[in-house]
Amino acid sequence: MGLGIGMGLRVGVVGGGQLARMMIPPAVNLGIELHVLSEAEGSSARLAATQIGDFRDINTVVKFAEGLDVLTFDHEHVPRAVLDAVAGAGVPIRPSADALASAQNKLVMRDKLVALGLPVPRWAVATTTADVSEFLATFHNQPVIAKTPSGGYDGKGVREILGPSEVTDWLGDGPVLLEEKVMFVAEVSQLVARSPSGEMQTWPLVETRQSGGVCVEVIAPSSASEFTSNHARHIASTIAEELGVTGVLAVEMFLMESGDLLINELAMRPHNSGHIFTELSLTSQFEQHLRAVLDLPLGSTDLIAPAGVMVNIFDGVDQVGVRSALRANPSLKIHDYGKSARRGRKVGHVSLIGTEWESLLHLARIGASEITGNPVP
Ligand SMILES: Nc1ncnc2c1ncn2[C@@H]1O[C@H](COP(=O)(O)OP(=O)(O)O)[C@@H](O)[C@H]1O
Ligand SMILES: [Mg+2]
Repeated sequence: MGLGIGMGLRVGVVGGGQLARMMIPPAVNLGIELHVLSEAEGSSARLAATQIGDFRDINTVVKFAEGLDVLTFDHEHVPRAVLDAVAGAGVPIRPSADALASAQNKLVMRDKLVALGLPVPRWAVATTTADVSEFLATFHNQPVIAKTPSGGYDGKGVREILGPSEVTDWLGDGPVLLEEKVMFVAEVSQLVARSPSGEMQTWPLVETRQSGGVCVEVIAPSSASEFTSNHARHIASTIAEELGVTGVLAVEMFLMESGDLLINELAMRPHNSGHIFTELSLTSQFEQHLRAVLDLPLGSTDLIAPAGVMVNIFDGVDQVGVRSALRANPSLKIHDYGKSARRGRKVGHVSLIGTEWESLLHLARIGASEITGNPVP
């Protein structure tokens, strides 16, 4: 007979966004008690919100973490001092503050990747406008990419620039990361999950498509060669191991014409590029993340269909549109993040799995457009 009924493992998630929201179904299935610290009432993850508060406040997060088996995250913006206080109170943080440092700051990330001998775009740190001019000069004053080291997401904090005057506002706040503008043939993402015991599982490489720096579509698996796909798995596994990442790690990469890969950035949590695996894989990235941070055995990442596509939904979800999208395509899977409508806001996604991605993508775009009322791209 099972003793300790009602004593499920307790996972705390800092941040009440859609990633925390999508951890709820697997938590329910596995009998895990999910506790979410939300920034505000009515967040995406409100069904599991147990506390409302500021994740930058030490006392708030320490109080939230009390009695948890593990603390994990929906975003990477929790300050180091807060993480250290929680760890000091004896609650395991996964991924650890040391690992997270490489996801929180793109300069730290670049340094770490270079130290590991992994391929990255040519880059430099700029603290003055003269630094920016010098970097531009090495690229014959062709456009380069400037990034704020931390706090960015969905292309916020990324600019294509032609002159130093375009980043003077950022330089006022501290150093800026400069990168060559990479002429990639595709952007790809490799997901891996790693547990504290060192067990690792990867999913197949996927192709991500961005518009204005925001992910709009994902195609799985990517059409990259087997050699490149194996290389991508190797890169992600190396990073997970060497940085001691626990939970899901997403490695965003640029795929070059030559088949080479250049690492763009890391996310140490479930990631938009992995949403397709909720339908396409035996184990979703959300279930795997929970299993990994709890040091439970990891699940199989085998695919249950040859291909899948995910199309993000922006602006707002129209309930009449949802009904007609469901009617038009019984295979369509809708994920509504429960967010209020706002122009440009990512409010959900749709997924389709099947035999080949081209026709799936066409149908998924139609489904997404029915839901938003926006035209099919
Ligand atoms: N060095 C680069 N060269 C070309 N495009 C880039 C470069 N860096 C970023 N981008 C484009 O901008 C997008 C967002 O940049 P990224 O660094 O991933 O920021 P975010 O943290 O907002 O996701 C990328 O997915 C890519 O489309
Ligand atoms: Mg990115």
